[in-house]
Amino acid sequence: MKDFNFYAPTRVVFGSNAEKQIGSLVSAYGGHKILLHYGGGSAEKSGLLNVVRTQLRDAGLSFVELGGVVPNPLLSKVYEGIDLCRKHDVDFILAVGGGSVIDSSKAIAYGVHYDGDVWDFWDGKAVPQQCLPVGTVLTIPAAGSEMSSSCVITKDDGLLKRGINSDLCRCKFAVMNPERTYTLPSYQTAAGGTDIMMHTMERYFSKYEEMTLTDGIAESLMRTVKDVLPLVLKDPENYRYRAQIMWAGSLAHNDLTECGTEKDFATHRLEHELSALFGVTHGAGLAALWPSWARFVMDRHLNRFVQFAVNVMGVTNDFANPRQTALSGIEAVEKFYHEIGMPTSIHELLGREITEEELEVMVDKCSRGGKITVGAMEVLGQNEMREIYRMAR
Ligand code: NZQ
Ligand code: ZN
Repeated sequence: MKDFNFYAPTRVVFGSNAEKQIGSLVSAYGGHKILLHYGGGSAEKSGLLNVVRTQLRDAGLSFVELGGVVPNPLLSKVYEGIDLCRKHDVDFILAVGGGSVIDSSKAIAYGVHYDGDVWDFWDGKAVPQQCLPVGTVLTIPAAGSEMSSSCVITKDDGLLKRGINSDLCRCKFAVMNPERTYTLPSYQTAAGGTDIMMHTMERYFSKYEEMTLTDGIAESLMRTVKDVLPLVLKDPENYRYRAQIMWAGSLAHNDLTECGTEKDFATHRLEHELSALFGVTHGAGLAALWPSWARFVMDRHLNRFVQFAVNVMGVTNDFANPRQTALSGIEAVEKFYHEIGMPTSIHELLGREITEEELEVMVDKCSRGGKITVGAMEVLGQNEMREIYRMAR
């Protein structure tokens, strides 16, 4: 078992009445002048933004607004946010949206008191030393950014999509009302659920196998997503179903399922190149790549794949043929992804095959020109990346 240091400082306020606490939460965490940050229109249309504005006004808080965050959030919007915060002496950022809005908020929060170019943090030229406090009103269970230490941003110039991790940016609070997810299109619900599965799977497929408690939590979480997500898609306004997926999204990426293990985020790293280059939805990109990653590494980790197949995907264990059991588990994941409308290959994702040139661009960017490897249970260099992209084609 690996030593660990578990830190999950985010206050979670969950339920249909959660939004009534927004004003008092912002005040409690020291906010006086707020940046209200949001995406492309869904929160305005649903009326949520007006609820938030009223909450802030009722608490006597003043705020400035910046909308227009796009999925796979851009550095250019982060610069805009930093300028606005400096101009108005903002001391708290409230993100209303999903992973993209939260990550844009975290990036702005890093940049406000930094003298250099905020991209330095993603470029490895500097390490964040301070960060404005960020809180969130979550509208989509998916990225898990509401409790995670990650911040993933795309630099417009060169379409470089990169993530950094620091406890400094963990949200002070997350307000989660499952009813706010009723308006999600099916595709976003399914892609979000896939991301939740994958955050757990990329911690479960680890070379440390002895942590049965962590395995049990992870398996329960994955079974919940597998069983409940199809029900949500059939019955999008079912509070109980939506609530379980929403809570799963936070627990999948707050490091709880990593205690005693070591994550292997190779599929995530390979996916970031897909969403950077083609603007695809992150969860759908993961679904398109994972089966190929799994087939590529399976034979060296058969026990783990068998345990996953049996305990999560409900495959009957063929004791005489563990390889077949493991393969059946991967096939069951593919069947599940197809059932919820997710692709399991790049051509299903894009509607066409990628060219050899595009493939090489992704290999080059993922490996930073051959300077880095990705993955832990299986370390992938350029050759392995290329092979997996080819298999996923
Ligand atoms: O922009 P609006 O109009 O709000 O529409 C959004 C967006 O188009 C829509 N949406 C959100 N809530 C809605 C809604 N539509 C109707 N009703 C609602 N209640 O959904 C679309 C996707 O939103 P986005 O925030 O992009 O989704 P998600 O939460 O999946 O975030 C994806 C981003 O997070 C990164 C991804 O790479 C991607 O950039 N990740 C961040 C992580 C982290 N910080 O810990 C970890 C993840 O692995 C991931 O890499
Ligand atoms: Zn993810």
